[in-house]
Amino acid sequence: MEKVVSLCKRRGFVFPSSEIYGGIGSTYDYGHYGVLLKNNVKAQWWRALLLDRDDVVALDSAIIQHPRTWEASGHLEGFTDPLVECRTCGQRFRADHLEALPCGRKPSRHPGGDPACDLTESRSFNLMFETTMGPVRETGAAVYLRPETAQGIFVNFKNVLSFSRKKPPFGIAQVGKSFRNEITPGNFIFRMREFEQMEMEFFVPPTEAERWFAYWTTARRDWYLELGLRADRLRLRPHDADELSHYSSATSDVEYLFPIGWSELEGIADRGDFDLTQHARFSGEKLEYFDQATSEHYVPHVIEPAAGADRAALAFLCDAYDEDEIGGERRTVLRLHPRLAPVKAAVLPLVRKDGQPELAREVRDALRERVMCEYDEGGAIGRRYRRQDEIGTPFAVTVDHQSLEDRTVTVRERDSLAQERVAIDALGDELERRLRAPWTRPHPG
Ligand code: GAP
Repeated sequence: MEKVVSLCKRRGFVFPSSEIYGGIGSTYDYGHYGVLLKNNVKAQWWRALLLDRDDVVALDSAIIQHPRTWEASGHLEGFTDPLVECRTCGQRFRADHLEALPCGRKPSRHPGGDPACDLTESRSFNLMFETTMGPVRETGAAVYLRPETAQGIFVNFKNVLSFSRKKPPFGIAQVGKSFRNEITPGNFIFRMREFEQMEMEFFVPPTEAERWFAYWTTARRDWYLELGLRADRLRLRPHDADELSHYSSATSDVEYLFPIGWSELEGIADRGDFDLTQHARFSGEKLEYFDQATSEHYVPHVIEPAAGADRAALAFLCDAYDEDEIGGERRTVLRLHPRLAPVKAAVLPLVRKDGQPELAREVRDALRERVMCEYDEGGAIGRRYRRQDEIGTPFAVTVDHQSLEDRTVTVRERDSLAQERVAIDALGDELERRLRAPWTRPHPG
């Protein structure tokens, strides 16, 4: 993890937020390559969950919902973690994670493990961030930053049903920020207080719930595999009965073997009719579907694949990180799936003279209409290749003296290091073809 964190900082993928003020607990900012990477993760999610299908529609609901939303969903009452505080060091810990956490004063021990530790009784701590809506703080209404995007979908069920001309089975997908006042965030962007979720609520006739739960569980695991995560670092873990959330009759997690161990990447839950029934009760609106074929009203059941964009980006980064040796020189390389790579092609003149930069810029201008590319003329060619390898650029396009004679360039592949001459006129088509082709990791492990 340290190596990934250090690469992210060095190359400006992700860095601690408000760093000039000393940072703010487990909040991170994304720099240029991080934004491009996370955008690609989200784009691939939209592609798989919406663009490639006819049965899912998009939504972008507000972060601040009516406060009754969180009463109905159960978050106000039950979205809590057990918290203990140490009277000696003043630090707060999750009571159910004590064995895995370092003591505030003696990191070699766990909280409560040193005679000087003085822990309070455990109490329930609500993870929702509360704020006030209205111009006067004292008289404003208490509202909450959403802790999940899902509820924005449920409260819009009736709206979407009326304009989308969909009938169950159909889904509503949403990507956006969620906020949780986690007691012990950490492990870089794995657990933050502000993060992005990619959630889809799939509404189905009750009798089809089991089948769709199985379908989405497999489909979501396969999405990570298709984007290159190693099969031996990915697994499905069904929840035991005592782990299930109050709303769920079945949940499976897609887990990834992060450097911190096997951890949840995404959860797929059968939420039954819990959410629509609750919001119908609290709002007084009927949240049902009328099936004209049977002349019956029913409350659809919901299958929910809920993923985190930051956590997925972290898994892809950890899986992609590699070090190897070329000609006796060490290189760090991100073996990202080309579709996820922040930059698809780097255009590099071999030398900064003889008309090569001019031709290289011409190649870059033509190429950037089709793929995300970057021009770099600074430093020895080997160093420029390394810089691109480190950010995961799958193709380096080099303009050399021959290019000026026959209008061809070399295309170097990040993984195989193979170099091939390609005509400039055919370059765009060729790169797009390669980007569409299936990709496999060159060196397992
Ligand atoms: N609507 C269901 C729901 O929110 P969840 O398991 O609490 O379920 C879904 O969250 C996903 O959101 C997780 O699998 C994880 O990828 C991501 N996530 C949750 N809390 C997070 C946090 N504090 N930091 C980063 N990602 C988080």
